[in-house]
Amino acid sequence: MVARLNLLRPSILALLCCAAAASAAAARGVAHAELWPHARSTGLLDPVTELRVSELIGRMSLEEKVGQIIQADIGYITPEDLRRYPLGAVLAGGRSAPDGGSNRTPAAWLALARALRAVSIESRPGHTPIPILFGVDAIHGNNGVSGATIFPHNIGLGAAHDPALIGRIGAATAQEMAVVGFDWAFAPALSVPQDLRWGRSYESYSQDPALVRRYAGEMVRGLQGEPNGMNSVQSGHVAATAKHFLGDGGTRGGIDQGDTEASEPELVRVHAQGYVSAIDAGVMSVMASYSSWQGVKLHGNASLLRGVLKGRLGFEGFVVGDWNGHAQIAGCSNTNCAAALIAGIDMFMAPDGWKELFDNTLAQLRAGDIPLALLDDAVRRILRVKARLGLFDGARPWEGRPDVLASSAHRALARSAVRESLVLLKNRRQLLPIRASARVLVAGDGADDIGRQCGGWTLGWQGSGHVNSDFPHGESIYAGIRAALEAGGGSAQLSVDGSATAAPEVAIVVFGEPPYAESAGDLPTIEYQAGARRDLKLLQRLRAEHIPVVSVFLSGRPLAADSELDASDAFVAAWLPGSEGGGVADLLIGDAHGAPRHDFSGRLSFAWPASTPAAAAAAGAANGAAAGVKARTAAITRPRFALGYGLHYPAHSPARTAGACNRACAPD
Ligand code: BGC
Ligand code: BGC
Repeated sequence: MVARLNLLRPSILALLCCAAAASAAAARGVAHAELWPHARSTGLLDPVTELRVSELIGRMSLEEKVGQIIQADIGYITPEDLRRYPLGAVLAGGRSAPDGGSNRTPAAWLALARALRAVSIESRPGHTPIPILFGVDAIHGNNGVSGATIFPHNIGLGAAHDPALIGRIGAATAQEMAVVGFDWAFAPALSVPQDLRWGRSYESYSQDPALVRRYAGEMVRGLQGEPNGMNSVQSGHVAATAKHFLGDGGTRGGIDQGDTEASEPELVRVHAQGYVSAIDAGVMSVMASYSSWQGVKLHGNASLLRGVLKGRLGFEGFVVGDWNGHAQIAGCSNTNCAAALIAGIDMFMAPDGWKELFDNTLAQLRAGDIPLALLDDAVRRILRVKARLGLFDGARPWEGRPDVLASSAHRALARSAVRESLVLLKNRRQLLPIRASARVLVAGDGADDIGRQCGGWTLGWQGSGHVNSDFPHGESIYAGIRAALEAGGGSAQLSVDGSATAAPEVAIVVFGEPPYAESAGDLPTIEYQAGARRDLKLLQRLRAEHIPVVSVFLSGRPLAADSELDASDAFVAAWLPGSEGGGVADLLIGDAHGAPRHDFSGRLSFAWPASTPAAAAAAGAANGAAAGVKARTAAITRPRFALGYGLHYPAHSPARTAGACNRACAPD
C-alpha cells in the first residue's frame, strides 16, 4: 500500500502543481520545490495502518468520503446532524462551548465529545463507523476549559530558551485535553513575526527562526508522543497542528491575514524553519494560513501545499484549512470551494457553512470538477491520522480522570514556566529582589486580574470579561506577592490606582495590554499607550512620593515604552504568564533578608523597540482616523534592548548577560 501511495502522489503532483508551476514559472506566489529542504522522515507511514485505511476507503460511500473532509463548529451542529452528514471532524472555535457557549465545565465538554463520537461510530445500515476528530485551540494549555492549567503564551516561552520545558508543557496540555475527550490541538503556531504590530505576535515563540525550529519539534512530541508511536490517545496524547502555513508572520505592516511579500529564499530561511522539525517529529496536521504569499492566498496555493509541503517536505498528515479560510480564494465562498481541495487542503474548516459545502462538494465530485483521486488522498491522510491516534481503539483511559486538570504537577510546571519566561529589563540600584519582610504597595489594573494575565484565547476567543472566580485554581500576581510577603513577615496592600494610605517601602505596579486575539490585536504603532500614557501617570505619581517603583509589564509583545521604563526603578517583561501568578513573586520577592529565592533566566526572544517621536505622533493621529495601512507607522527601527537581552541578580552572575547585548542595551 505504501508503494501504491507513493505512485499516486507524484502523479497528482504532476497533474496539478508542477505543470502549473512550469507554465507560470515567472508568476508570483509560485514556489520552486528544489529551493526547499528535503524531508528527513515520514514517521506517519506504516504498512499496517495503510492497509487498514485502504480497506476502510474501499468500503466508504462517496458521501462518507466527502463528510470526512469537512469540519463543523460545535455551535452549528448537533450529534443528530451527524446521522445525515457523516462529517470527519468538529471544532470548538474560540467562542464556542457546550450548551450554546455557556458551559465550559469539564463535565459538559466530555459529555459533548462523547455524544458526537457515539453517533460517528454507531453501527447502522449503510454507515461506515469512523470516529470523529474533536479539535480545539489548546494553545497555552487546554485554555477553553474551566479549571485547566493556563500556561504562559508562546512569546513568554520563547524567552525561556528551554526546549525541554516546551515538551513538558505539550505533554501536560495533551493530558488536560484527553480528560475531556478532545483529540486534536490547533497548536503550535510556528509563526516568525517580522512586525510586532501584528496582533498574533504572542502566539509566536520568537523572531529567531532557529529558536522556533528548536521548539517546534519539542511541542509536537510533547502533544503527540514519540514520532513513531501508535495509539496516542490511549497514552494521554493528542494530534498537533503546525500553523499557519506559511509566512503568516511576514505580512506587510503586520496586518493579520495580510500579504507576505518575502522572496522564496526568505520564506524558506525565516518562515519555514519550524515546519521542518515539526514534520520530523511526525506532526499530524498542518493548518493553512489566511495570509497570502506574493498576493496568492495560501489556501489556494498548490505549489506550496502540494509541491513543497506534501512533496518536498514529505508531510504525510493532513492539511486543514483555517476558519472559512477557503472562502478567501478568488471565486470561492464559505459554502463552495473546489479550488481549495484541488490546491491541497485536505479538510475544510467550515464552521457554519458545512452543510451546503457538503452538498456542493459532492456535486462537484459527481460532475468530475474535482478528480476523485484527490478526494481519496485527502481521506487517506485523515484516516491515517485517526488510526495512528488510536481512535479506532475504543479505549480512552484518560477520559474523565479527576486528578489531571490543574494537578499539582501541572501547576508547578506552569509556575516554573512563568519563572523561566520573565525578563528583567532594568534593576536600578538592585531594587529587586524585594525583602520578604517589606511593606509593599501593589498597584495597576493588571495586579489582581487573572484573566488579564492570561490574555487572549482564554475561556473564550478574545479572553476578555473574566473575573478571578472564573479560574478556580488560578492565582493572581497580587495574590502571589501577598503570599510571599506574608510568609516572610512583610505585607502587601492592593490599591489599583496607587492611592495607598499606609506609606509603603516600595510599589509594584502591574500594567500593560488588555486581552485580545487575532486582528483585534493589530496595532497602528508599537508605541505603548501613545497619546494617553495613562499608566505612566501612575508611575510618575508614585515616584513623586519618593516610593521606588517596580513595573511588571503584561503584554503580548515588546512595545516601545521608553517613558514607562524611565519612570521605573525596575522593569520586568512578564508577557502573558497565565494562571500561575505566583511565579512572578518567586522572582520579585526574595527571602526575609532580601536574598533572591529564584534568579531571572529569561532572555528576549524578540528585540525590544525604542520609542521614536515620529511613531508616537503618528499613533496619536491614527487613533482618531481609521487605522488602515496608510495610518501605520514604520516598523521597528531601533531596539532599546537587543535580542537575547535579560538581566540577572548580581549574586549569581554579572548584571548584563547576553552576548547579543551591545550598545543597543539600555544605560541602566
Ligand atoms: C471563532 C474563532 C475564530 C474566529 C475567526 C470566532 O468566532 O470563535 O475560533 O478564529 O471566529 O473569525
Ligand atoms: C485562527 C486559527 C484557529 C481557528 C479555529 C482561526 O480564526 O486563525 O488559528 O485555529 O480560528 O479557532
